[in-house]
Amino acid sequence: MTTGHGQTPTDDGVPGGAAAPPGVSRRGMLSGALLAGLGGAVVGAAGGGSAAWAMATSDAATVDDTDTVDLDRSYPYYGTGHQGGIETQPQRHTVFMTFTLADTATKSSLQTLLARWSAAAAVLQQGNSVGAVQPSNGVAPPGDTGEAAGLSPASLTVTIGLGPTLFDDRFGLAPHKPAAFSALPTLNGDTLDPKFTGGDLSVQACADDPQVCYHAVRNLARLGRSVVTPFWAVLGFGRASAGPGQQTPRNLLGFKDGTRNIQTDQQYSEFVWVQNGDQPWMEGGTYQVVRKIRMLLETWDTDRVGNQQQIIGRHKEEGSPLSGAHEMDTPNFAAKTSTGDPVIDPVSHVALAARENNGGMMIRRRSYNYTDGLDANGELNAGLLFIAYQNDPQHFVQLQNRLGAHDLLNEYIRHVGSAIFAVPPAPEKGHYLAQQLFTAS
Ligand code: HEM
Repeated sequence: MTTGHGQTPTDDGVPGGAAAPPGVSRRGMLSGALLAGLGGAVVGAAGGGSAAWAMATSDAATVDDTDTVDLDRSYPYYGTGHQGGIETQPQRHTVFMTFTLADTATKSSLQTLLARWSAAAAVLQQGNSVGAVQPSNGVAPPGDTGEAAGLSPASLTVTIGLGPTLFDDRFGLAPHKPAAFSALPTLNGDTLDPKFTGGDLSVQACADDPQVCYHAVRNLARLGRSVVTPFWAVLGFGRASAGPGQQTPRNLLGFKDGTRNIQTDQQYSEFVWVQNGDQPWMEGGTYQVVRKIRMLLETWDTDRVGNQQQIIGRHKEEGSPLSGAHEMDTPNFAAKTSTGDPVIDPVSHVALAARENNGGMMIRRRSYNYTDGLDANGELNAGLLFIAYQNDPQHFVQLQNRLGAHDLLNEYIRHVGSAIFAVPPAPEKGHYLAQQLFTAS
């Protein structure tokens, strides 16, 4: 392996190259450039948006100093207990791709694939290339596709998941399938397109530079070419979730998303990491649920803000619950108006989803906005790439069945894609992802 993005030596034993370019740590600069691009697109397509633009720019101006992008930051891949990209502070971009295994794939080719992907992920997360960008032998194809040469690691994390289909009769893995793990049943509100549904494997690459995400997924796909074929993919931007010290970002409905999320170690331990499960290879792992949710943005954009707030159960600009004044105020679902009506509509999105109304249960949401441009009718084809991590897939099933049946938001969204994956813990150095699954007797 040779180095490419210009990083110093790493604990993965990859030799270093020239010093990396200095990182950018001024959020105003990055978010300003992003908003300029998006603001222009919105004004052009919908003929409006100046109020949203004013709100977004004033928001960026008040950003906390701790919420910065450091493109030089890198995360180790091996020995971290859990895979990255779950508890990791949400980076600004993702490329999420699912794969199907070739008919000729065997248990051993699957093992080799996971070993190669693990080694590549470790190298990529340090900002290095997976092979020579320009081999000295001019007739050989490059070992790395090259588009990230010279770029910093940008906090890249590569999260790899195994689909329920790996436990069918093809690879002899059925005895090691966790009892809790199977394809998602049909859920309330499903309008799924088979083109965006299922997959044998998933790769979620998150980073603060979209080119770094794309490079990572593209090179994993290339490394696996004889064994896997890319199935469906989504490019996500504008992280719709926040970690400690990060400002809550906004989804494409214009609402803050990620305010009430899993944050503490205790919550991760209780709701995210598999502990004392029935399969040792999944100890410290979790289950990834991915839903591609299209938003009917043109319809939403004609709705009164009061109605939008009733649907979500929160104020639009501040993000506070309708029962409070500040974003972090705990919603009071018992609060009544002077006429005796609930302040937060019982079928608003947050009332249906909140832990107070679901027996205390929580999920770790780590979503991204996405756009596929325009649809055949010239309408904005965009929405939320909803990604949730939980130690019991039934938690998601329970929530989505409730939301799919009653949520006021349903008028404005369509669940068009769906998949679930088992996400094993991170391998130790010298090992590869899910190795224990293959060596279990
Ligand atoms: C396009 C689809 C969706 C949009 C636009 C959306 C938007 C939001 C917004 C604006 C909030 C309030 C801020 C916050 O606390 O994060 C929220 C909260 C939440 N959402 Fe969603 N959401 C969507 C889909 C889903 C789905 C599919 C689920 C799970 C099945 C879900 C579960 C939750 C939960 C658990 C909360 C926290 C509620 C609380 O504790 O107050 N959301 N969502």
